[in-house]
Amino acid sequence: MKVAIYPGSFDPITNGHLDIIDRASKMCDTLVVSVIYNPNKTPLFDLEERKILIQNSLKDYSNVVVDSFSGLLMDHAKQKNATAIIKGLRAVSDFEYELQMASMNQKLCPNIETVFLMTSTEYSFLSSSLIKEVAMFGGCIKGLVPEHVRKAVISKF
Ligand code: PNS
Repeated sequence: MKVAIYPGSFDPITNGHLDIIDRASKMCDTLVVSVIYNPNKTPLFDLEERKILIQNSLKDYSNVVVDSFSGLLMDHAKQKNATAIIKGLRAVSDFEYELQMASMNQKLCPNIETVFLMTSTEYSFLSSSLIKEVAMFGGCIKGLVPEHVRKAVISKF
């Protein structure tokens, strides 16, 4: 794969996301981590904050760049000359919705493949939503997100 896109909300990035990025970066020349801007949602971290948290997690990667998009993922992928979309699958529960999105995206753009990577088992329970919920109630999120992300999450509550 030349250019692949790893899209998501990343509100905030977790060690589960970083596991997928690490593995996907070895499969392509350039991996674009693309953060969605959705004006209808109110994330904990705004777009710039989310991008900075990701950038600060990826200093050791020379072939991974951080970008953002709004609207259709496939329009963004075409703009980036991507040949693949990378998605992480944690459990069977992810599969149904991901299959639906992959099928729609294939319909929209048959030349761009969706490639699923299974999340490593140590992160299979992890989600940005759970991180926020646990942190909001004072629970420990050490080891689940990078340290600078942990501090940023705690400072929000
Ligand atoms: O991290 P998330 O919230 O699970 O990421 C979901 C995301 C951003 C990948 C998905 O919502 C998306 O692709 N949105 C873009 C809108 C789009 O292209 N919709 C049609 C796809 S079926």
